Amino acid sequence: MEFQTEEEKQLFYIDKCREIIKQKENTLGRKLTACVVTFGCQMNFKDSEKLVGILTEMGYEETDDEHADLVLYNTCTVRENANFKIYGRLGYLSKIKENNPDMIVGLCGCMMQEKHVVEKLNKSYRFIDLIFGTHNIYNFAKLMYERLAEDHKVEEILDGTTKIVEDLPTKRKYSFKSGVNIMFGCNNFCSYCIVPYVRGRERSRKPEDIVKEIEQLVSEGVVEIMLLGQNVNSYGKTLDNSITFAQLLKKVTEIDGLKRIRFMTSHPKDLSDELIETMHSSEKICKQFHLPMQSGSNKILKEMNRHYTREDYIELIRKLRESVPDIGLSTDIIVGFPGETEEDFEDTLDLIKQCRFDSVFTFIYSKRTGTPAAEMDDQIDEETVKNRFDRLLKVVNEISNEKVNEKLGEVVDVLIEEKNERLENYVSGRLSNNTVVHVPADESVIGTIQQVKLKEAKGFYYMGEIVS
Ligand code: 5AD
Ligand code: SF4
Repeated sequence: MEFQTEEEKQLFYIDKCREIIKQKENTLGRKLTACVVTFGCQMNFKDSEKLVGILTEMGYEETDDEHADLVLYNTCTVRENANFKIYGRLGYLSKIKENNPDMIVGLCGCMMQEKHVVEKLNKSYRFIDLIFGTHNIYNFAKLMYERLAEDHKVEEILDGTTKIVEDLPTKRKYSFKSGVNIMFGCNNFCSYCIVPYVRGRERSRKPEDIVKEIEQLVSEGVVEIMLLGQNVNSYGKTLDNSITFAQLLKKVTEIDGLKRIRFMTSHPKDLSDELIETMHSSEKICKQFHLPMQSGSNKILKEMNRHYTREDYIELIRKLRESVPDIGLSTDIIVGFPGETEEDFEDTLDLIKQCRFDSVFTFIYSKRTGTPAAEMDDQIDEETVKNRFDRLLKVVNEISNEKVNEKLGEVVDVLIEEKNERLENYVSGRLSNNTVVHVPADESVIGTIQQVKLKEAKGFYYMGEIVS
């Protein structure tokens, strides 16, 4: 078969799968179910929405229950415990499959880009039916067809790709907010990080394609979007008609009907004054910035290959706060990087105290095979790391607590996102600065922006009341 586009090819295979699934439905006398479980970051979450969209088009009914006809794990490998989690879950899944031999088990995502992982899966987890990586997720329909029609194990992993295929069916979890990919891959090679090896080199989508996708989302009722990339600040550098991230943001702010724009993730070395100025001048861009610092020690930052100093970082935070006074700031910190001394760690604590983040994502350094840091001498012992991690958490929590109190009593705009699962007759939403607030209200307000009075601060979140 000759196809004009990749999308056309995938739609062809979706149709072919639909026929097979229809036959299976007739034999079983019921619909077939599919469960997609996502691990890791927002990009994986977005990929999973595509996988579910394709499966739904094929005729599967989506379920959260792993006792399904198809279970697909979209994996993460950024830290080693993400991998352990998958192996554990696979043990559980093998028991389910023993009772349902027709069940299809698939794995995809970042972990599949590691050769030693796939070797282990093929050797010790032989019940897996389908394996594919991050570069060919668009080929899912064709791979499913091979599995369904030929009834043998299917494995396709590519080392890289230059292709960007985005126009495929997708089933969004939320009707009113969505992630939008603006770029893929990463060229930074921080010495601890496996992402450049599993997600490949940086590739940006064309601005007109991004704008078109967002316009379409807005026409379907989306009011908030999150622009996604491993390093959004270097967006556009690889395009023929080069464009900056700030210029893209400006175009996106002009889209009628779109109310809120967020973006993730930024690298301090590429954060431009132009971006800070753009945030200052647009009401639509949320007052939130996630700027991973990783360490407060100049020696460690250098070993991490981060290309900035603690002084540079402090200056960026100063500029952001000066331009956008109410901005919510968050960061990522790694504890226990090879060679980290007590003094280095205290530098990190000190920088956190100076920057006073609203929230900090704290990680224990995890050795990733194939990265330069895995080969470094002086890996830190577990006990020291644990002790530092606990001290770090204490400082982080104290500051978050104080920060959340600062806005108490204010009336702010909140996008109401979901029913609160723990409190009856409550819904939960987010402020522009990304803090969560719970309010008493019925589900009819989900997806709308409400004026909320912040009545009580509870560590990381608020209890509030709708006043509009
Ligand atoms: N060990 C611990 N944390 C890591 N991160 C990335 N790689 C590692 C690693 N090997 C953290 C960084 C990054 C976040 C997404 O995950 O802090 O910003
Ligand atoms: Fe995990 Fe990174 Fe892959 Fe996201 S891109 S799923 S954080 S390894």
